[in-house]
Amino acid sequence: IGRTMVYQQSCASTQIIAHQLAQEGTPAGTVALAEEQTAGRGRMARVWDSAYGKGIWMSIVLRPDVVPQKAPQFTLVAAVAMVRAIEEVTGVKPEIKWPNDILIRGKKCTGILTELQSDADGIQALIIGIGLNVNQELSDFDVQVQPIATSLKMESGKHVSRQEMVRAILFYLEQYTDLYIEEGFGILKVLWESYSSTIGSKVRARLPKETLEGIAEGITEDGVLQLRTADGKLHSIYSADIEMTS
Ligand code: BTN
Repeated sequence: IGRTMVYQQSCASTQIIAHQLAQEGTPAGTVALAEEQTAGRGRMARVWDSAYGKGIWMSIVLRPDVVPQKAPQFTLVAAVAMVRAIEEVTGVKPEIKWPNDILIRGKKCTGILTELQSDADGIQALIIGIGLNVNQELSDFDVQVQPIATSLKMESGKHVSRQEMVRAILFYLEQYTDLYIEEGFGILKVLWESYSSTIGSKVRARLPKETLEGIAEGITEDGVLQLRTADGKLHSIYSADIEMTS
């Protein structure tokens, strides 16, 4: 990962660049990164704040030989890689909030967005987008996100080298995607759960048609959240916003 890197000062979104490169046949492991994104995108059609020079905005092209149903596992693998990289470089201990937010002391510093490029023959590429807030001060964030966002600098109290951070992220991403491909999700699932602030907690999941409250008991092999409600029923949550309620 990272043998081919495409760097831009400014772009709409590194996801768009990575999709284009993937379509043109770029090798697996290609990374697109930018100082600034003018239309950074998040999950659920949200905007991702990507100020110039303050964070790491990058997208990685993978070409795994897997069925589309397995794609979410790569997001979980990327989350574990992010946590390890952040811990190694800054010494702060982040936690993972299902499905793929990385928080430090309850505030979000990283978002991961996985997108598929597929055709009739299957997956052509998996694009993993990573947004990491590195050197922002609180006032660098939009007022609306200030209560829920943080950066590595805010949490560690010092300026963090983005270069060192990118190196560590790509190192762990390669190590863990290789591990996943060779050995499956088993060990990585245990690692993911060990960093998770969600598992074992009381949570509220807002679904399009209902809101469920209960205990998050775990994730399945496919990264599906298992939520047990007070009536004893176990619900499978594929995609939702969740809130910790205790
Ligand atoms: C989320 O909603 O939490 C996911 C945010 C993902 C943001 C990253 S920044 C690099 C890449 N390019 C984008 O436009 N989005 C992802």
